[in-house]
Amino acid sequence: MKFFIDTANLAQIQEAHDLGILDGVTTNPSLMAKEGIKGEAAIMKHYEAICEVVEGGDVSAEVLSTDFANIVEEGKKLAAIHPNIVVKVPMIKDGVKAIKWFTENGIRTNCTLVFSAGQAILAAKAGAAYVSPFIGRIDDSSWDGVELIAQIAQIYSVQGFKTEILAASIRNALHIVKCAEVGADVCTCPLDSILGLLKHPLTDIGLAKFLEDAKKM
Ligand code: G3P
Repeated sequence: MKFFIDTANLAQIQEAHDLGILDGVTTNPSLMAKEGIKGEAAIMKHYEAICEVVEGGDVSAEVLSTDFANIVEEGKKLAAIHPNIVVKVPMIKDGVKAIKWFTENGIRTNCTLVFSAGQAILAAKAGAAYVSPFIGRIDDSSWDGVELIAQIAQIYSVQGFKTEILAASIRNALHIVKCAEVGADVCTCPLDSILGLLKHPLTDIGLAKFLEDAKKM
């Protein structure tokens, strides 16, 4: 399973990259706004900076348009920033149509805001490189986000779809473990959730004891 970081914060992207396990980055308009990135030129420059930090990993850049013609125009501009940019397109009617257009024109896409297996089937049929089910938001609405990942993994396997399942809206380390268990191809996570994988109290207790005993060596 690949590890992406779900942020537009360059320091956090650098920290995950330095850990040696980072395969890519996902962003969205909320995450870009959180970093204070405003205006087309600043947005383009920021995506370029992210691509430089991840050195070869895929970077999802989301379109803001919601009609076919403008999604295509915007996506073409985003894709031209760097070969590793993946155009993130919402799961709406014009979005599906645009994903198909991008597929036929050699531009890779990440279909976002996916909350059902039916939506995941449509994204795959249109040729999306990635599909992004938002598992934390599904949990928030009292459904089981991980179960959706498992269902999509089963459907894609039976049908032979090549679209990669990118589990998004990850809230904790357990989400990452469960997504790995049920067959997600990628998890995109906040830095805290990735670092959460490191933690176990017995590791801390064991290390403290080893270091204490080492003084007797
Ligand atoms: O990339 C989309 C996803 O990160 C949304 O996460 O935490 O806002 O539900 P969240």
